[in-house]
Amino acid sequence: MLPILFLLFLLISCTHASIPEICVANLKGPQTPAGYTCKDTTKVTVEDYVFAGLAKAGNTTNIIKAAVTPGFVGQFPGLNGLGLSLARLDLAHGGVIPFHTHPGASEVLIVLRGAITAGFVSSANTVYLKRLRKGDAMAFPQGLLHFQLNSGKSHAIAVVSFSSPDPGLQITDFALFANNLPSALIEEATFLDDAQVKKLKGVLGGTG
Ligand SMILES: *[C@@H]1O[C@H](CO)[C@@H](O)[C@H](O)[C@H]1NC(C)=O
Repeated sequence: MLPILFLLFLLISCTHASIPEICVANLKGPQTPAGYTCKDTTKVTVEDYVFAGLAKAGNTTNIIKAAVTPGFVGQFPGLNGLGLSLARLDLAHGGVIPFHTHPGASEVLIVLRGAITAGFVSSANTVYLKRLRKGDAMAFPQGLLHFQLNSGKSHAIAVVSFSSPDPGLQITDFALFANNLPSALIEEATFLDDAQVKKLKGVLGGTG
């Protein structure tokens, strides 16, 4: 009789140990690969589920003439555990989001204004390239190198959506040239010449 009661108890506790549907990120707590712990539910408001950041143009006065305004879990705590997030892209005339990857998410981009040429490269080194116009959408598979550049005559705007609340962003040029890895090693590891490596380090803030 006792083992049966114990099994019954286990069954009931498992049924109740489901993931809570309301789990707004407690941004003061630790972040783990599984997300943040839940903020006290009595303190959760609709504002945790609303993000106003996409309405405002990002500052494109920079070397890439572009800006990414993230609506990731850090800015939009209601996304914790929901498996999605957003960002706004602003590309001034001549602007580019250089080759980059999101280690944690696939991406869908929707052009809201202007024309954007976007592409990604598969693991087999096949290039998938398209000039997108207002209203067009394009998907970028998780982890693959991709870029977006303004191929129109005016400011371009896009909204991107990710399959993770925290997709991550690694821009290849910054990873290679905005750190203190000795130039000689970078030259050996990339086949680029010394002048090019030093020039890019100078522009992007690397040393060594
Ligand atoms: C945009 O960024 C540039 C460079 O950092 C800065 O000088 C400028 O004041 C910024 N503009 C606005 C409107 O914040």
